[in-house]
Amino acid sequence: MKHTDIKDLFASSDKYSNGSVTVCGWVRTARESKSISFIELNDGTSLRNIQLVIDKENAKTVYALPSVGTALKITGNFVPSERNGYEIAVTDMEVLGECPADYPLQKKFHTLEYLRTIPHLRPRTRFFEAVFAVRNELSFAIHKYFHSHGYKYMHTPILTGSDCEGAGEMFRVTTQPWNANYKNEEEYFADDFFGAKAGLTVSGQLEGEIAAMGLGKIYTFGPTFRAEHSNTTRHAAEFWQIEPEVCFADLHDIIEIAEDFIKNIIKEVIDNCPEELAFFNERSGNGLLEKLRGVINSDFIKLKYTDAVEILKKSGKEFKYPVEWGCDLQTEHERYLTEEYFKKPVFVTDYPADIKAFYMKQNPDGKTVAATDLLVPGIGEIIGCSEREADLVKLKNAMAKRNMPLESYTAYLDTRKFGSVPHSGFGLGFERILMYITGVQNIRDTLLFPRTVGSL
Ligand code: 4AD
Ligand code: MG
Repeated sequence: MKHTDIKDLFASSDKYSNGSVTVCGWVRTARESKSISFIELNDGTSLRNIQLVIDKENAKTVYALPSVGTALKITGNFVPSERNGYEIAVTDMEVLGECPADYPLQKKFHTLEYLRTIPHLRPRTRFFEAVFAVRNELSFAIHKYFHSHGYKYMHTPILTGSDCEGAGEMFRVTTQPWNANYKNEEEYFADDFFGAKAGLTVSGQLEGEIAAMGLGKIYTFGPTFRAEHSNTTRHAAEFWQIEPEVCFADLHDIIEIAEDFIKNIIKEVIDNCPEELAFFNERSGNGLLEKLRGVINSDFIKLKYTDAVEILKKSGKEFKYPVEWGCDLQTEHERYLTEEYFKKPVFVTDYPADIKAFYMKQNPDGKTVAATDLLVPGIGEIIGCSEREADLVKLKNAMAKRNMPLESYTAYLDTRKFGSVPHSGFGLGFERILMYITGVQNIRDTLLFPRTVGSL
């Protein structure tokens, strides 16, 4: 269907000015007086609508005012207008798809809670058009960053047998219903599709490490799945994760990479989504752009876990979860550090080994690991990061301590047996950084079809 994107019309308005153009889209608003009809049309290519003007008195054909949501193909003259910059004086209107009166998006504004009940229609709203435009630009910026820095993009498996994080949050994958004839679990799993217990990956890291061990530096960018029962505004059962893995890099190096990467992708979005960010800036009370520019232009804090605990203890705050050395930091603690104490992103480093995953490099103190979480104001953790334990014996000990079946990890352990090297990596939660950049408060409003506990 030959037509011009509305984005193009506005971007090259000089070229199209006073000429005949054809556009397609959906009616956002429509009103008429006795002699003139005004229609706002949107085609998803731009946050901006094009205004259509129908001169009813001089039109050759009489057009009924289309209802909100109707899909149209329009031809007309693209003319300068005092109010809108440009508008289209319609000469021909074809209804591509009618939209009956029970179309739920009749009003100009709907609450996000309401829109969550109609996820199949919400991409037709300004808010979700903006969210998905930024989501798209951010994905591209991420690929661009790694591509231009010589990383190889790896596609790690989604079906897997290993629980990378060891948190027992894997979704099971099976084609085999349990029946009472199986004597035990082993027999049941052996009879299943893969001949073994299988699930959806919680992280591509272990396979990413294996790839990096030959390719030097790689990244993954794909869906990951967690059967976490945390019903919060920051947890989804299906979310996207970016996981670079870098050989010959220690914790200090990977922190530098992570900081440069975060600043770079934020800058790309600011540069390439001006309309969308202006929209989110206004929605969030005009502090958003200033915050993002501040992030790009300042150094992130690097703070040892032990020092973080001291700051929290001295804060005089009544936390719901009291802080003691050895405890995992809760959202309230993360918020205090990033929102009240430092007011900027903070890398908390060197966590107690007991609260972190098996693969992290053990520090000489025997108590902590060379790991860091990047915490940001308003969200909390957006990155989980560590130098990996490169010593085969130490790694096996950490696994044994966690009762992990070493025989299931022989491929992974071979990376430490054959030419082991210092290496590090991190995982960035894609929806979390998207929330941070847009100021969107609920992870459910960053995904096309959010999957959360109790909701598919
Ligand atoms: O901290 P996590 O669990 O780290 C890993 O999975 C490592 N294997 C990463 C690595 O070193 N390659 O998860 C990484 C990030 C978190 O910081 C968070 O941003 C995001 O993934 N995340 C979630 N995002 C949305 N919903 C959930 N349920 C999430 N769980 C983790
Ligand atoms: Mg984490």
